[in-house]
Amino acid sequence: MHKVRCRRSPSTDRGKRPGGYDSGIDTSRPVHHYLLLLETDLNRVFSRSLGSVAVAELEGVTRALLAAEHRPTDVTVTSLGRATGLSFSSSADPDALDRLLGQLSCGLALFEQTPGDSTTLTPRPLTESLVYDTDLVSVQRYRGKTNERLTRAMLNLALANAGIGLTGPWDRTPTVLDPMCGRGTTLNWALCYGLNAVGIEPDAGSLRHYDGFLRTWAKQHRLPHKHQGYRPNNAEQRHTTLDVAPTRAAQKAGDGQRVETFNADGGDRSLAIKRGSIDAIVADLPYGIQHRADQARLDPADTLELLARVAPTWRRWLRKGGSVCVAWNVKRASRVDVAVALAEAGLLERVPDHDLAHGPDHGMEHVVDSTITRDVLVAVAR
Ligand SMILES: C[S@@+](CC[C@H](N)C(=O)[O-])C[C@H]1O[C@@H](n2cnc3c(N)ncnc32)[C@H](O)[C@@H]1O
Repeated sequence: MHKVRCRRSPSTDRGKRPGGYDSGIDTSRPVHHYLLLLETDLNRVFSRSLGSVAVAELEGVTRALLAAEHRPTDVTVTSLGRATGLSFSSSADPDALDRLLGQLSCGLALFEQTPGDSTTLTPRPLTESLVYDTDLVSVQRYRGKTNERLTRAMLNLALANAGIGLTGPWDRTPTVLDPMCGRGTTLNWALCYGLNAVGIEPDAGSLRHYDGFLRTWAKQHRLPHKHQGYRPNNAEQRHTTLDVAPTRAAQKAGDGQRVETFNADGGDRSLAIKRGSIDAIVADLPYGIQHRADQARLDPADTLELLARVAPTWRRWLRKGGSVCVAWNVKRASRVDVAVALAEAGLLERVPDHDLAHGPDHGMEHVVDSTITRDVLVAVAR
């Protein structure tokens, strides 16, 4: 095993417990040592950043959802032949940890390591809890689609920082908004998790494709659903809804999901989205790259101007304590400037504990192509 990087040593803030998640963990539990094998991404460029993105997701999610004394420590990226793994220690209840790790964006298999014996790995269950199959997220292929794995990591970070556990059942089904939804990668993950989803996108073509895709998906899977889509003869029809449930029984019990989209600007206050009704926002901002001349309008060069304009409306739609997770092209805007634009709207960046002690370490930053390097930031509505 080749150890690449060691990031976090045991926490000194014992006893602190974030709200919103009952880990049911006894503080005297023994420490377990784990190896989480990561699923290789088909995108070879993204694959190079897999280890650091996975560490940042693991740390960001567990920091928000686990009491300080149970969070993973000594998190290390380990290469095993052609595979990559994360090794770490944690005193969290192993079953609760299995469930949490099963929702991470890139876990493939989990093993418990025997202390002092690097050759013995005991498999642990790593079960995903999804309401719909992931073909919902993977089937659509188009230029400009946000990496599915990164989108899932962003959704996990947004939910966790809003105090929402990554698996249901929840007292009330949370609602996730992607105000720059393209053809719906975030919305599809939200549906897979059993959440309600709202999307906003100014490009009517993207939404028409998405609307058609969703309807076909619901029909092909024989899911009970009710759809209200675009009307070809009515250019003013800017709103679509799909009420869907995994089974008739779930539909009867009111355990379905709603996904709705608006063909509009991502900061349009006039949309029928109630103040404080959104639990988490996930958005991959336009990259400021003009792929085609006619798209200039939809890929504004000035990321900060766009963010400063839409963020106050996002704050208005979010409930207090709700969170926003944004990805953007760092070649267009610095991390500090993005954090300031959000903070001015009352959305405060979640700074990791270890950043306060050791200076910033932005593990999610990754290369997309020669013109785009993307980073991710989480902020919470105060
Ligand atoms: C990076 S893409 C997001 C892709 C999306 N996550 C997906 O996987 O399909 C950015 C999106 O922002 C949209 N956009 C540009 N300006 C916008 C605005 N003012 N309000 C909302 N969305 C906007 C673009 O049309 C584009 O679909």
